[in-house]
Amino acid sequence: MLHNLISNALRHTPANGTVFLRAEPRGEMVRVEVADTGEGISPEDLPRVFERSFRGGESRACPGTEGAPGAGLGLAIARGLVEAHCGTISVESESGVGTRFHFSLRRT
Ligand SMILES: Nc1ncnc2c1ncn2[C@@H]1O[C@H](COP(=O)(O)OP(=O)(O)O)[C@@H](O)[C@H]1O
Ligand SMILES: [Mg+2]
Repeated sequence: MLHNLISNALRHTPANGTVFLRAEPRGEMVRVEVADTGEGISPEDLPRVFERSFRGGESRACPGTEGAPGAGLGLAIARGLVEAHCGTISVESESGVGTRFHFSLRRT
């Protein structure tokens, strides 16, 4: 799960950008955040990023992109895993500014 969030962040952030992770306890939960200063996600795409097979912008599958990373399943799987553990996952993003995913899981 973290691997998917981190590799997405790295893929969508230019070389001079920043990807950061934070994990903090919140009562019974731990809240993990993966944020980047990359291209961001457009307001139209944002509500759809957790959908199975959704790939936005230039990530969209095109002829000749076989072998491109991912199949638009990573975030759908991440949400499935988090929700299976009674947690929550969400995203905030602004085009051209960056993206912040966070998820919360019970600590025990
Ligand atoms: N950190 C990010 N910055 C910009 N866009 C992102 C980021 N993470 C995910 N996305 C968008 O969400 C889509 C779905 O992500 P994901 O389910 O992991 O699929 P994949 O990585 O296979 O494209 C990506 O194709 C991309 O458009
Ligand atoms: Mg991915």
